[in-house]
Amino acid sequence: MIHRNFPATRPRRNRFDEATRRLVAEHRLSTDDLIWPIFIREGGGEPTGISAMPGVYRTGLDGLEGYVAEAARLGILAIGLFPATPQDLKNAEGDEALNPDNLMCRAARILKAAYPHIALVGDVALDPYTDHGHDGVLRDGYVANDESVKILTVQAVNQAAAGIDIIAPSDMMDGRVAAIRAGLDSAGLIHTRIMSYAAKYASAFYGPFRDAIGSGGALKGDKKTYQMDPANAEEALGEVAMDLSEGADMVMVKPGMPYLDIIRRVKERFEVPVFAYQVSGEYSMIMAAVERGWMDRDRAMMESLLGFKRAGCAGVLTYFAVAAARLMAGAA
Ligand code: PBG
Repeated sequence: MIHRNFPATRPRRNRFDEATRRLVAEHRLSTDDLIWPIFIREGGGEPTGISAMPGVYRTGLDGLEGYVAEAARLGILAIGLFPATPQDLKNAEGDEALNPDNLMCRAARILKAAYPHIALVGDVALDPYTDHGHDGVLRDGYVANDESVKILTVQAVNQAAAGIDIIAPSDMMDGRVAAIRAGLDSAGLIHTRIMSYAAKYASAFYGPFRDAIGSGGALKGDKKTYQMDPANAEEALGEVAMDLSEGADMVMVKPGMPYLDIIRRVKERFEVPVFAYQVSGEYSMIMAAVERGWMDRDRAMMESLLGFKRAGCAGVLTYFAVAAARLMAGAA
């Protein structure tokens, strides 16, 4: 035990000037750490604003390549795709999820052709496609596990065939990682990575996202029979263990900021890359305060992202990705 006593030790010395502060910094965010989630709709024209997420847009497929150009130039290496499916294509079974030419698959083909070096992350769940807004299919009012897993597996294989590099199942059905891994392997897609939303909580912080993909008003009930109870931490470790044993290459904790303890515990227990999803509500909370002049956007953004690095994350899905990359490019 070392005793560091005042006045021989003055911790403030290492904070004396910018050069020293930077020398002793333990963690640093880089553009390599950022995954940028984007919302896609049919058509073209100017990207449409999302009222609950200031500064976030739904981009038409026709303008997709141009929409991503700045992110590519800034060095962003991973993009997550979320489709806003036209209302008339949604139904109770989420059939559009299995259309190999759905919005998501077409977007993947466009982006893969234009930016082959960017890793595309494909969200696998049925909520963008179901008229009831659940992540799986309903049987007697319950989200049926095994039937949903079968559908999700086909959805995942279609996405991978269209160019998605990293399959990210966000549905929280049991056994889906094993089924998806087997599906990918039997389609010869052995290099397709799986980043499982391993510990995904039933959270109020997804509110603005549901508006963005147009599933919010439609959602009947809640997702508490499949997403985790915010009261639980040990259970998250069990979920991660299962997903890893089923073949997940990386795991995610979601939401991010209210669950930094989970990130740290997963990181300490398992030797795999851990990611956080700084979800829509976390983003919008910061932006709402910024719009009222209550916080500085750049500082709040960077501090929130650095928190994930400190907690042990390899990277973060964040709607701030482009803004953060811009800021880092300017500062470099
Ligand atoms: C869908 C999905 C959700 C998010 C990502 N994938 C919403 C949900 O589970 O209801 C949320 C992302 C965000 O809030 O930014 N399975």
